[in-house]
Amino acid sequence: MAFSQLQAAGKQTSENGNSNPNPIPLTRDVSVNVSRSLSSMDKAMETSIASTDAWRALQEHVAEIENTHLKDLLADQGRCEAMSKEDMGLYIDFSRQRATQDTIKKLMDLARAANLKEKIDAMYAGDHINSTEDRAVLHVATRARREQVICDDGKNQVPEVWGVLDRIKAFSEKVRSGEWKGATGKPIKNIVAIGIGGSFLGPLFVHTALRTEPKAMMQSRGRTLRFLANVDPIDVARALNGLDPEETMAVVISKTFTTAETMLNARTVRSWLTSQLGEESVAQHMVAVSTNLKLVKEFGIDPENAFGFWDWVGGRYSVCSAVGILPLSLQYGFEVMEQFLSGANAMDDHFRETPLESNLPVLMGLLSVWNISFLGYPARAILPYCQALSKLAPHIQQVSMESNGKGVDINGNVLPFEAGEIDFGEPGTNGQHSFYQLIHQGRVVPCDFIGIVRSQQSVYLKDEIVSNHDELMCNFFAQADALAYGKSREELRSQNVPDYLIPHRSFTGNRPSTSLLLPELSAYTVGQVLALYEHQVAVQGFVWNINSFDQWGVELGKVLASRVRQMINQSRNKHRFVNNSDGFNYSTTRLLNKYLQGKTQ
Ligand code: F6P
Repeated sequence: MAFSQLQAAGKQTSENGNSNPNPIPLTRDVSVNVSRSLSSMDKAMETSIASTDAWRALQEHVAEIENTHLKDLLADQGRCEAMSKEDMGLYIDFSRQRATQDTIKKLMDLARAANLKEKIDAMYAGDHINSTEDRAVLHVATRARREQVICDDGKNQVPEVWGVLDRIKAFSEKVRSGEWKGATGKPIKNIVAIGIGGSFLGPLFVHTALRTEPKAMMQSRGRTLRFLANVDPIDVARALNGLDPEETMAVVISKTFTTAETMLNARTVRSWLTSQLGEESVAQHMVAVSTNLKLVKEFGIDPENAFGFWDWVGGRYSVCSAVGILPLSLQYGFEVMEQFLSGANAMDDHFRETPLESNLPVLMGLLSVWNISFLGYPARAILPYCQALSKLAPHIQQVSMESNGKGVDINGNVLPFEAGEIDFGEPGTNGQHSFYQLIHQGRVVPCDFIGIVRSQQSVYLKDEIVSNHDELMCNFFAQADALAYGKSREELRSQNVPDYLIPHRSFTGNRPSTSLLLPELSAYTVGQVLALYEHQVAVQGFVWNINSFDQWGVELGKVLASRVRQMINQSRNKHRFVNNSDGFNYSTTRLLNKYLQGKTQ
């Protein structure tokens, strides 16, 4: 079935043709955020996944779940077993979700009503599922095995992918071995990766995860990798501070090569280099990663030193392309990065081939739809009990929120429910001393706990009862149960807690979480985790029937910033302040003038 037909299938009144008796079958009122006329709401209802029997069955099922408590659900060993999955060395325990096996069955019906399997297949088949940009969505091709065939417009893309990877391997070996020399003959030891959004967060996540991995550590001895993302001059100063330009190479990473922040930072770093090493030094000290090789050349970077990728790789899904693999291979060597790609590829195979019932990203995705669209929990906390995963949450925040933060479905109909997830997180145990209070006694925020069996690093102090890593993991196990079980007033009374403190010290429990246990944090498992989350986000979008692969919502702010840029430029050149005729509203006019006046003081 073509993808357009799949979208249309999602538009049926219901799976069996029944019309929906409930015009707004939602657990939450969504009319507050977006003003929607009744007719557009009606239209959206008719055409949306929310009009299917499967959706309605889940809505009705909410009442049953409301009558359960996780402490009882967890007492059922059969359920716990059925709701834990192990594959490729990963162990995922969903038993602390507010869901029964019946819920899972109903979610599978929803997946079928949404044509989930067909949509996954359409993605792998290279259908242009990013319909607003008429693009395929093939980040899975960036980590394909050499012999795999993944086509866009009938052409296998894998040989091109490996063409770039082979060039990265050769180039990074040249730089790392010292054969590639800087303008003054010194070898390159420092890399500054300039990029923002998807051209930054994914590579930063992987770099942070590998920095203390023993093999990667050995490979990166004496080398530095820094990132420059924000256009804030403070970020420039921090990225360049202490670096010797003679030993530094800038990698300019931008899919479009037009992003204002990245291009300004690239010009700033170019001037930092050339002011000390001369104009010609750009050839040895600046390379690029982009789909726009024409603009790379115009910027002054030799196309020989540019590494391409393709419009079928979304920015936030690009870490496995040259976007991540070039700077990370320069730091850790290509071999380490090949392991990372293999891990992601293994998860891709799992996602494509495993039946929905035991498919890890599918289960994660469906359960998050359950939490968001049915139980009314719009946020999720990503809580790795591993400092090396400290940049996982910021990366997934972009992958998830830029992908699924949409107000219309793929056909342009206003959604009759709110899609998207509010993602945030911090590594445990740091988060425990920050926002866990709210998660335990305030709002319900489903959590992903991620634990590692064998740490990258070990510390054993003779007199301690457990190692540092065991101590960390004690919290991993304890927090999930604290959220699930809570602490009742009776328990507190039996512990002689004074009456006036009982309301303050009681915990309702019944707060959902998923526990993910990895055997170790290696380049390979980092790749698995990355792909697991990417596919989970895709599953959500496929079920909600939205386009998870465009990002029009970031455009308006960019346009308005460019008007302000022109204004600030004019005011500097003509020594004048903003006035009413400049077209800004009263508030912005005053704010701008405060800023401009402050600069002259
Ligand atoms: O924030 C919007 C966005 O387009 C992201 O999707 C993208 O990752 C980022 O900007 C950077 O874009 P580019 O790689 O083209 O510089």
